[in-house]
Amino acid sequence: MLRGAGPGPLRRPRVLAIVSLPALAAYLNRDEETRPDGSVVEGYSAGGHSAPPRGPLRLDERGDLVYGPRDAPDFTRMAALGLPFWIAGGQCGSDQVRRAGVAGAAGVQVGSVFALCEESGLEGGLRRELIERELAGELTVRNDPAASPTSFPFKVADLPGTLADAGTSAARNRVGDLGHLRTLYRTDRGAIGYRCPAEPAAAHVRKGGTLEEAEGRQCLCNGLLAAVGLGRRRPRGVVEPPVVTTGQDLGFLRHIAPDGGEYSAEAGVRRLSAGLVEEALAPV
Ligand SMILES: Cc1cc2nc3c(=O)[nH]c(=O)nc-3n(C[C@H](O)[C@H](O)[C@H](O)COP(=O)(O)O)c2cc1C
Repeated sequence: MLRGAGPGPLRRPRVLAIVSLPALAAYLNRDEETRPDGSVVEGYSAGGHSAPPRGPLRLDERGDLVYGPRDAPDFTRMAALGLPFWIAGGQCGSDQVRRAGVAGAAGVQVGSVFALCEESGLEGGLRRELIERELAGELTVRNDPAASPTSFPFKVADLPGTLADAGTSAARNRVGDLGHLRTLYRTDRGAIGYRCPAEPAAAHVRKGGTLEEAEGRQCLCNGLLAAVGLGRRRPRGVVEPPVVTTGQDLGFLRHIAPDGGEYSAEAGVRRLSAGLVEEALAPV
């Protein structure tokens, strides 16, 4: 418990750590100060940012980072830590929920099924295009090691007209005017400054960053806002292009929306819970 200057003692909120491997969870678990209340074990196919692979970075022919067996979490070791954990990445089905239980997990965490449902904030045209391309077997979602200013690999869907498209990215005026992913640095005069490797490279270098850090970075602040239909409008009718992230395993679509139509979040929950209630209620 922390004592603040305010009216009463502050309670530490419950914290779930996002980890990729049990070694990281074990490291946090060693000290009471850093011990989380549980963990989400995110596989490298999960949407958004991921941990880098162990060992040297290698790309396949589509520009997707290559992960290997050492990147697969050992859930027995996770369970041995004695804290609850949830498995994330390609887990959208009641079979996966059952398997997670057998592996000692408290459950699963899903994201993409809700990112693509009709209630999602993802701009409708992008959502439909993702679904259509996936069902046609034409969608590539890459773990891009360079795109994110955070320098964590970031899943980008290869859609034309988005920042994943080299032409669209090259045509974009490189501005970083939202600043949600900025990092702090100490200026020459000892003050605190802010920089982001996705801002104009010259500005980044002027602030003590390197050209190497700036190479290939995309402005996720502008790109992700554009993906939910809130792209900034620039002079001469230019609108910021989106960047689209999703998980790499969208196999659930063949069950929930085989004809490529809209589906609801409820359909996602039904797929996750199918048969589980009946099994839980069945006499033993
Ligand atoms: C649009 C979107 C953005 C996400 N962004 C992040 C992120 O920045 N960092 C992160 O650790 N996980 C992120 N996630 C992962 C989710 O929290 C969740 O673990 C993941 O979606 C589960 O895998 P699934 O997408 O295969 O269901 C994101 C997921 C989606 C769909």
